[in-house]
Order: sequence, then C-alpha cells, then structure tokens
Amino acid sequence: MYLKRHDPEMASLIEKEYERQQDTINLIASENYVSQAVLQTAGSCLTNKYAEGYPDKRYYAGCSFVDQAEQLAINRCKELFGAQHANVQPHAGSQANMAAYMALLEPGDTILGMNLMAGGHLTHGHPVNFSGKWFKAMQYGVHKDTEELNFEEIASLAAKHKPKLIIAGTSAYSKIIDFRKFKAIADSVEAYLLADIAHIAGLIAAKLHPSPVGLADVVTSTTHKTLRGPRGGIILSTKEHEEKIDKTIIPGMQGGPLLHIIAAKAVAFKEAMDPLFVTYQKQVLLNAKTLAKSLHQKGYRIVAGDTENHLLNVDIRNKRIKGFMAQEALERAGIIVNKNCIPFDPEKPWIASGIRLGTPAITSRGMGKSEMEEIAYLIDMVLTNHQDHIMIRTVKERVLQLCKLFPIPRTWDEVIINDCLKTVIEAIPVN
Ligand SMILES: Cc1ncc(COP(=O)(O)O)c(C=O)c1O
Repeated sequence: MYLKRHDPEMASLIEKEYERQQDTINLIASENYVSQAVLQTAGSCLTNKYAEGYPDKRYYAGCSFVDQAEQLAINRCKELFGAQHANVQPHAGSQANMAAYMALLEPGDTILGMNLMAGGHLTHGHPVNFSGKWFKAMQYGVHKDTEELNFEEIASLAAKHKPKLIIAGTSAYSKIIDFRKFKAIADSVEAYLLADIAHIAGLIAAKLHPSPVGLADVVTSTTHKTLRGPRGGIILSTKEHEEKIDKTIIPGMQGGPLLHIIAAKAVAFKEAMDPLFVTYQKQVLLNAKTLAKSLHQKGYRIVAGDTENHLLNVDIRNKRIKGFMAQEALERAGIIVNKNCIPFDPEKPWIASGIRLGTPAITSRGMGKSEMEEIAYLIDMVLTNHQDHIMIRTVKERVLQLCKLFPIPRTWDEVIINDCLKTVIEAIPVN
C-alpha cells in the first residue's frame, strides 16, 4: 500500500513478479517459496540497524534486541544441524565459501573441488571465479559411465597435488554424496575437508541425506534452497575453527551483518525443526523420483540414471532440442527450468545438452504424485512440439489451471493441509 503510493513504478514490478511466481510452475532446483513469517521478518525494521561484530561484542550502540535475534539464529542453527559452532552472517553461499577459504588457506594454496561442467559450483575453483584466481584449483568430475562422483579420480588428484582443502559439494548432482569417502581422502593427504551443502541443506536438516557435520572441518550452505529460508549463507564448524571463521567474516571480509535476514534465518530454522518439515522434505524426494520416472518413461535419459535428492538432470539430446531452446520454449508455456550441461557435454554452457529440474518449490505449493506425472507430460509436449504455438498455448492454459489449484502457500505449514500430503508418505531410508 505504502509502496504503491510512494513508488508506483517499483510497486508494479513487484506485483508483476508476484503474479509471475503465482502463475508459473517453478522447477528451478535452487529456488523455493518462503513463509509469510520469513518474508515479514526479512522486511522488518531490523534492516535499519548497524551491528558490526557479534552478539555482545558490537562496534555500535543500540544492539540489545538484534543481539538476541542473532543469538537465537545461532542457537537454532547449531541445534538444527548438530554443529559445535555456527556463523549466521554470510550474505550468501558464495560469501560463506569465500570466508571459509580465507580462514583455512593462504593465497596460492592448492584446492580440489568439483568441476562446474560436472555439477560443481563456480566458487569451487572455476578459473573466472575468485576461487580459481586466488588459489591453485584442481578439479574433479564424475565417472564417464555411471555419471556418479569419481572417487578414484578424487583420490588420485589428491595424492598427486596434495591440496590443502578438498571441497565436497554440488549444484547439479542428483545422487547421495558420501562424505565419509571424502573425509578418508582428505585425511590421507592431511587436507581440510569443506562440505558445501547449499543444495541439500533442507534434506540434511530433515535427516534424509547423510550429514557432513562432525566429519568435515567446515560446512557451508545457503539458506534459501531446500532449507526454504531467506536468501543468505551460513558456516558451521568445529570449535577448533570457530575463532578463525568468525574473524574472517568480520573484520576480515564483511561489514555490517544483515540483521533482518539473520532474523529471518532464525524463523526458517524454527520452521525446519518442526516434524512437518520432514514430511515436506520426504515429499520433495518422492516428487523428484516421480518426475524422473515419468520422464524416463517418455524416453528421456536421466543423468546418472535416477535421482536420490531434490533434483534431476535430463539429457534431452535425443529429442533434437538444445538446453537453451528447451528453457525458452518451456518458459513460454509457463514452466520455469534452467538449461544445464550434462557430464562431458559437447556443448558450451550457454547452449547445453540438458535441463535441470528441481522439486522444492512445487512441493511447497502442495503438488504431489499426479501433478509430477502431469508436469512430465506437459514438459514432453513442449519439447517435442516447441515450434507449435498452439500446443504451447494449450500447455500454458493447463499450467495456469494447476497454479490456481496449488497457490503459493502463505504459512509454512499450510502446504500440509493440501490433499497430496495428507496421504501417508512412505519413509525414505537414510543411507
Ligand atoms: C553448491 C553451491 N554453493 C554455493 C552457492 C552460492 O550461493 P549464492 O548464490 O547464495 O552465492 C550455490 C548456488 O547456487 C551452490 O549451488
């Protein structure tokens, strides 16, 4: 209301973005819809406060309430993940990684991380990123035949290059990550182990994916993907690294913390501690499995054969369409995905031979098995008829109907009122 009066131009853009989110099926694996409680906290008066430092050790006066808010976030984060120490100040996942590297390494040290083209992240040593510029970055990938993490390659690269830090974490990988294997390799060369759980943090919090906490020296994460919190980062560590990590964040690389976001992280951590959050994450996994199975039945090759988490990479080469064209055609039909390289992709990243699909956002809307089957059908209709405008329009109409049936939930637990989650959900075993 106020915004509309004071800045109608911006108010209109926000309104349009809200409508876009309501009216499209969001399969971006790294996105989600936060609750109104998280949204309200992120838009609160805490945004006005400067509070450089940490609770009870600030450079500014007037911090008594924000001190309590940050302490609440720290306590909840430690409890949620069973960590000895939590720093909740990183502005994003990339800043969390930067701080962790700066705490453990010197410029020029060797690091070993996953190649972006195989499913890793830019901050894991890509040459255009700070991580590849400041450090001597070695990169590992996946097996050519199984498309799963290539632990023989990781072990042999570690033995040859003696990295000071090994990074275990992925952005586009659909299988369980065996952190124990990473730990054994790191120990064999006396390297630090950093687990970047940005994508799978919600699954780990729900105990549906093995946790690296207690194994890795440092664990970094975003808070806005499967964890369904505000945009931001966190760093978990053992007591041993607590001081180094905290000092690297401030005064090392950040200024004032975003207290409104830190408070919103605390709200999200509380939501994630509720048993219903586990129900939600189980449905995320089931939905990803159903989507993978349905697409496979329609002749699509799922990278690595299947999914064991919230996302799947789909090789679309046999449908005679490139990743960027698929992304564009699907967007015209109201289905939002991102093009993605498949392992050993002959195409450049902006062309790509695949698409990456994730289920956290549509599961937050309450969609279940039958919607996944239908979405696979709709995706297939678009990809096999991407030049047929009438077909695209027909799919878009059905997408709109589905979106109206499953509006973005206002409260974190509203989603469980939905019929699809009322059904008994089979427990998914934790590996
Ligand atoms: C594994 C991984 N680490 C770090 C990041 C960076 O997070 P942010 O975009 O918040 O900087 C991402 C983001 O996609 C990611 O997938």
